[in-house]
Amino acid sequence: MKIFRILPFALLLASTGCGPGRPTDEEFLKEARRLSAEMGKTLLAEVKGAMQEGGPVHAIEVCATRAREIAARFSTGGFRIRRIGTRIRNKEHDTPTPREAALLAKIDADTAEVFEKLDGERVYLRAIRIGSATCLLCHGKEEGIAPAVREALKRRYPEDEALGYALGDLRGAFVVREASPSR
Ligand code: HEC
Repeated sequence: MKIFRILPFALLLASTGCGPGRPTDEEFLKEARRLSAEMGKTLLAEVKGAMQEGGPVHAIEVCATRAREIAARFSTGGFRIRRIGTRIRNKEHDTPTPREAALLAKIDADTAEVFEKLDGERVYLRAIRIGSATCLLCHGKEEGIAPAVREALKRRYPEDEALGYALGDLRGAFVVREASPSR
């Protein structure tokens, strides 16, 4: 029964934007860092596991479905997370908005993350780099990619632009936002 007395109060706090309904900038940043680190680890484990299980062609199929499921799993507690690319493979889901593209452009070799608050809406980007030779198996220079992998990529992503990367290159970013920004 207690819930009836607490609920209107919680709603009032949430609607004023200063109660537990809206995290402070520090809380937002802390959670955005945690989510992007966790999602990064999960994706890496997933792609490595799939490669061991059935090689890179199989791993492409796994990436194509699991990347979105994993993003949905981590998009909880009022936060949304997804990936964007500097050059895009999955155009439908991973194309940056103009604002995200502008933030991505601020990331240089020494930048790990960008946080911006614009008109009250907060956005966090964490750089994704080509951190290991594994990434190159599917994102490296075309001539260095196994023919079966190239074919599998072409089949699924006819407009694929996410090739030609080298070790250390910026590949994209995790983007964290609030699920329902106040404006
Ligand atoms: C087995 C092949 C494979 C490997 C290895 C691989 N990727 Fe990908 N990558 C893909 C596929 C396939 C997609 C598109 C997934 C989708 O449809 O959501 C993708 C998408 C991405 C995206 C999202 C942006 C876009 O272009 O759609 C990023 C960022 C990314 N990969 C980074 C990496 C990094 C960093 C590594 C190394 C740790 C890596 N990938 C290793 C196949 C791979």
